Amino acid sequence: MSIRTLLNDRFRAAMAAAGITGDCNPNIALSTREGFGDYQANGAMAAAKALKMPPRELAQRIVDHVDLDGIAEKLEVAGPGFINIHLSANFLAAAVADQTAQLAVSVRPNATPQTVVVDYSSPNLAKEMHVGHLRSTIIGDAVARVLEYQGHKVIRQNHMGDWGTQFGMLIAELEEQLGSGEKPELALKDLEGFYQQAKKHFDEDEQFATRARNYVVKLQAGDSHCRQLWQLFIDISVAHSEEIYRALNVTLHHGDIRPESAYNDDLAPVITALEKAGLAVEDQGARVVFLDELADKNGNPSPVIVQKSDGGYLYATTDLAALRFRAAELKADRILYFIDARQSLHMKQVFTIARKAGFVDVSVSLEHHPFGTMMGEDGKPFKTRTGGTVKLADLLVEAVERAKHLVADKNPDMAATEQEEVARKVGIGAIKYADLSKTRTNDYIFNWEAMLSFEGNTAPYLQYAYARIRSIFRRAGVTVDSLDTSILITEGQEKQLALKLLQFDDVLQQVAAEAFPHILCNYLYDLASAFMVFYEHCPILKDGVDTEVRASRLQLADITAATLARGLDLLGIEVMEKM
Ligand code: ARG
Repeated sequence: MSIRTLLNDRFRAAMAAAGITGDCNPNIALSTREGFGDYQANGAMAAAKALKMPPRELAQRIVDHVDLDGIAEKLEVAGPGFINIHLSANFLAAAVADQTAQLAVSVRPNATPQTVVVDYSSPNLAKEMHVGHLRSTIIGDAVARVLEYQGHKVIRQNHMGDWGTQFGMLIAELEEQLGSGEKPELALKDLEGFYQQAKKHFDEDEQFATRARNYVVKLQAGDSHCRQLWQLFIDISVAHSEEIYRALNVTLHHGDIRPESAYNDDLAPVITALEKAGLAVEDQGARVVFLDELADKNGNPSPVIVQKSDGGYLYATTDLAALRFRAAELKADRILYFIDARQSLHMKQVFTIARKAGFVDVSVSLEHHPFGTMMGEDGKPFKTRTGGTVKLADLLVEAVERAKHLVADKNPDMAATEQEEVARKVGIGAIKYADLSKTRTNDYIFNWEAMLSFEGNTAPYLQYAYARIRSIFRRAGVTVDSLDTSILITEGQEKQLALKLLQFDDVLQQVAAEAFPHILCNYLYDLASAFMVFYEHCPILKDGVDTEVRASRLQLADITAATLARGLDLLGIEVMEKM
């Protein structure tokens, strides 16, 4: 349950009952200072200003009208007109107990579900997936999971780049290698190497280059020989990506792939529609849309080429076709793009054209959620020691390898198979969490030691917090189902933990609205920390702890573990019983 929503509703009603007309925003916030209640209603000041009334007087009038029976034990007007809300311990106890059932469902009920299209990962298939694809893949996946959990209909779209001019070169290379007896799986075993070879060939051999150029045209015109070779290449390339998705525990499946080529037949109609709308005009043989909305500082409109003079279409044309499809066919209410900040202008152009052409209604929310670059410790874009691009597959292997050493050090007695499993979860979790926990719009520095540390805001810390709670249950020799007594909140640390637990829904709402997973990460870190403080001050298994108190604390521990597990699952990170 969201306490914020509950308080908001009650205070809104109170403000109306107190005779405040117009928009009454109670402005509910968490109290930031101890002694000022648990939450505050800060809306009285603005309302008083509009009514030209002394704010403290109005605040008192709201307090007199608000119905918080059984919810708050004390309300007080403070400072210039804040209302401090002290929640009742019984109310918190009951609300926390309810959270267990809510955490157990895999999709929350939603009275106003939206259809949300999420465009993420979307690698170019010419090369193997590299670190440049990591951020979109894991940030997009976390947001998709949260939206789905909130009861929205999420349609994942993996807009893979499978249709550029480089495919002529790749087809020509594949044709040649197969001609000399090579098997496709072997020729394409190392996609990166294959691409380099094709490129070298293209640059050095004029005949090859001509054939490659010719193949692009043939491919796009539907020639079956070219199409067959292309398909071979695409299948193997997609299989590589899907291996990475599995290793990364990412929820992208085969059916989510709607690559650039899927829009091939829509490109000519898009141009026709843009011309009809008076948007696309001829300019030196090409078709161009000039956007005044995005004019530079001298007032020159921003030009967007939608068809080249040789008839070829561009990245923007395909994105326009995709947008039209997402609005008209997928019936999206929101369309989210997780793409590098360097494509911000491209997205602005595409959104502006789509709106002007009427491809997407104003009621549909178009959102580019950009992110910064992954940097090496030298502060430059992350590279291999020799300056090459880092293959994602290699990075993931290294993460698990490094985690394996840590796990073996900490648990020399654990069976080898279990160590491997734990290492996989820790290594992959660490890479993902390090990225997700940073404000995505910034660049971030990739650092193995920091991400694999068991202290601080890291995946291992949170996984460990979870495992530690599970171990309490093992030591107690009880399962939570056997504890049917109620939760008692008497100690300050118990109250703080309960308040934290009850913020979970508000945090998810915020992540769903703003697509910032770091908000969830920070919350989980705070929750784990609140648990550690609670555990230190409120003994559970020590001798002399009253049975009812013990049962209550065990339940608080269990709900904490369930919240951590659910939160990490929404980030695509796995937990384990022992670590
Ligand atoms: N394939 C593109 C790239 O690697 C990203 C595509 C993102 N999605 C989109 N609809 N433009 O840069």
